[in-house]
Amino acid sequence: MSDVILPVIDLDVFLAASPDSDAFAAECKKAADALVSYGALLLHDSRVSEEDNNTFLNLIEDYFAQPEHLLKQDERPELGYQVGVTLENTEKPKCAVDEPCLKVIARLDPAERPLDISAHSPDPKCRFFWKMSEKPPYETQYPSLNAPNVVPKAEGIRERWTPIMEKWGTSMKNAVEDLAEMTAIGLGLSRETFRDAGRYGPHLLAPTASDLVKYGRKDTILAGFHTDLNFLTIHGRSRYPGLNIWARNTGKRIPVKFPPAGRYLLVQAGKQLEHLTGGLIKAGYHEVVVNDATLQAIERRKAENPDRPLIRISSTFFWHLSSDYDLAPIPDLQEKARTIRADSINLGKVDLDEETIYEPMKVGQQVQNELRHIALMA
Ligand SMILES: [Fe+2]
Repeated sequence: MSDVILPVIDLDVFLAASPDSDAFAAECKKAADALVSYGALLLHDSRVSEEDNNTFLNLIEDYFAQPEHLLKQDERPELGYQVGVTLENTEKPKCAVDEPCLKVIARLDPAERPLDISAHSPDPKCRFFWKMSEKPPYETQYPSLNAPNVVPKAEGIRERWTPIMEKWGTSMKNAVEDLAEMTAIGLGLSRETFRDAGRYGPHLLAPTASDLVKYGRKDTILAGFHTDLNFLTIHGRSRYPGLNIWARNTGKRIPVKFPPAGRYLLVQAGKQLEHLTGGLIKAGYHEVVVNDATLQAIERRKAENPDRPLIRISSTFFWHLSSDYDLAPIPDLQEKARTIRADSINLGKVDLDEETIYEPMKVGQQVQNELRHIALMA
């Protein structure tokens, strides 16, 4: 385990400082560097309210506390589960069957490896996908990735659902889109590069839920070791720790710790960002497990809120590039990626990994390829 603290990027600086100022440029550079080095960062955004996060977590706890036959009504398997609910034991961590990924684990020091997923059946986590996308002004080649939202039917949840989902989702979307601008600037690209590429992306507010009564034993894998298939993933604070990430350059398992108070979000790089930067920024590996800190949080929650459902919610938002966007490495960034790789090989510093080829393809194609891997689409 490691005491690495992730870099903290201040969106307030980006929003308040003049674009010509040194402070502005430095904060953007810091954001890009953090993603290159760690594949993750903590984002400080004063516009995000902790109370909105709590309201959101309460709603999702109430939703997943419903009996399974009610939840089942919100499933849409024919749409690859890209809207509505996904119940537990459906999604498989890609890594359990994926050779390059197993090699990543094998290269880690045994003490820094994720919990063993080789015998792990599908993840015991449930999820809800709520679309936060803008309809494209053109006909998309990928309509099933752009299907309408599902609103739960149960009284007491139905009325609260849309306003709370939209409010929290919009906070996360604004924060992640601003960070996408900072990253573009920090990489030497024009400010709108990523924001424009993802303008019509099928963005998802995608809370996951793990039943801690059923799955609250130490060393239970709630989500097995994997990377995300989208561009950037952003999370609010969870009520239970358990998320571990691996920074590409340290080979260390890093338990994610939020500062104890304040308006912070966690951001991680996904596969689309890796592809577009030719591997300069790598998608970050992560897992969610029950560890000692999770157990302590469970005990505290039971004592302080005995009437609440004991469910671990993660308030995840997946920001995507537009499905019809042509995904291909940006030449300057790919060149930089090659230089960094060559340097690290010359220094004898890891990465005996074969060079990844980033084939040009539509984003929608990339998403479908990834979904097949994790058993969500036939
Ligand atoms: Fe993930």
